[in-house]
Amino acid sequence: MDYLTIEGGYKLSGSVRIGGSKNASLPIIASTILSQEKVTLTNLPDVVDIKTLIKLLGMLGANVEYHNSYSATINNGSINSTTAVYEIVSQMRASILVLGPLLARFGECKVSLPGGCAIGQRPINLHLKALEKMGAEISIEDGYVHAKAPNGLNGAKIIFDKITVGGTENILMAGALARGVTTIINSAKEPEVIQLCEVLVSAGVRIDGIGSSELTIYGTNRKTLSFPDIAIIPDRIEAGTYLCAGAITKSKITLNCVNATHLRASIDKLESMGCEFDIIDDNITINPPNELKSINFITTEYPGFPTDMQAQFMALSIVSDGETIIEERLFENRFMHVSELNRLGADICLKGNIASIHKADELNGADVMATDLRASSALILAGLIANGKTNVHRIYHLERGYEDLEGKLSGLGAKIERVKANKK
Ligand code: UD1
Repeated sequence: MDYLTIEGGYKLSGSVRIGGSKNASLPIIASTILSQEKVTLTNLPDVVDIKTLIKLLGMLGANVEYHNSYSATINNGSINSTTAVYEIVSQMRASILVLGPLLARFGECKVSLPGGCAIGQRPINLHLKALEKMGAEISIEDGYVHAKAPNGLNGAKIIFDKITVGGTENILMAGALARGVTTIINSAKEPEVIQLCEVLVSAGVRIDGIGSSELTIYGTNRKTLSFPDIAIIPDRIEAGTYLCAGAITKSKITLNCVNATHLRASIDKLESMGCEFDIIDDNITINPPNELKSINFITTEYPGFPTDMQAQFMALSIVSDGETIIEERLFENRFMHVSELNRLGADICLKGNIASIHKADELNGADVMATDLRASSALILAGLIANGKTNVHRIYHLERGYEDLEGKLSGLGAKIERVKANKK
């Protein structure tokens, strides 16, 4: 398998363009199932997860035309299957996002159960309970969720016990074609959820409460939607990761094509660590201090600090002055990067879902293994400042969500290259 090799100790400079948001693209691509007409998407990120979901739509019978790596036209008028197979869902849990729209449009579908993943069990019980409340009959057969609502879904009042991004998105899409009004109480408020709402509104669905924790969706009673062209919002996690790259290497760099409002939690923490920012239009320049100050944080739902940035900030805390305490509240197993960071010389102790980190005198390059998407980027960040070479293996995790990571970091001056499997 290919791996990335990084020679640490080089400063970064210049600017990097941030791509479209993976987590906004996925539900929006799924939502196109609610239409029988062509939909054109632009500013898609060029990452594996997007290709995987588009491949799934193709397997359902959709016609997909790529204009380039960042733009595609999808025509779901030709869908002739409503089964999302294990082969795809097992590669990417977010495939569960086709459940709501397939059921709402066709009245029946089968979607493979996603199962657990490296960062936790990640159940979908809240998605299923909400769809049942909307009148769906759901059974689990041979590892598949079999959902039926032959006469269509009915609007319902859904109260989520826990805030769930994917659950909110599935019910938004289901509610869009339901009969009557669906209310989601305790809904997620992530920018990606907001963009899905806005896209559904642009396609003719009335949604009240966008951006709040109570959404009201006025269903079209199975009338399919017409979407105008959709430009995906910038990826706040990719952007946050590059801000961390600037901070850890003590380098002033500029990010282009970002939405600073979506990055508020990360920027706020970086400011507490001593970084300064210049924000002009959709460009952010980070000016890091000579020594980062330690901070404490908990991961929580938006607008709080995102779990998807926890690993990257842990990499920063390795070289921050003082002790850092991080509490992971969303995923029970999202500390797989700890032992790999310790292999590079970090001083991290774990107790349950709390990590305490003391400043390491120095990091030394080593072979390390990526365990999940965001954990991988923490290893890259640490590799940027470790002495000598760090080889990051299992980079297929990174490719799921980071567009051309080695190209973008090299463009900023990092010494990073991909080593092809057969060249080792
Ligand atoms: C999304 C993001 C992921 C991010 C996460 C939390 C996408 C494609 N992925 O994942 O990058 O880390 O939000 O911000 O957008 N839960 C249940 N039952 C359910 C659903 C969720 O118990 O039916 C729990 C989960 O195990 C987790 C918490 O709720 O502890 C939040 O999960 P959720 O918001 O659903 O995450 P995803 O949508 O899977």
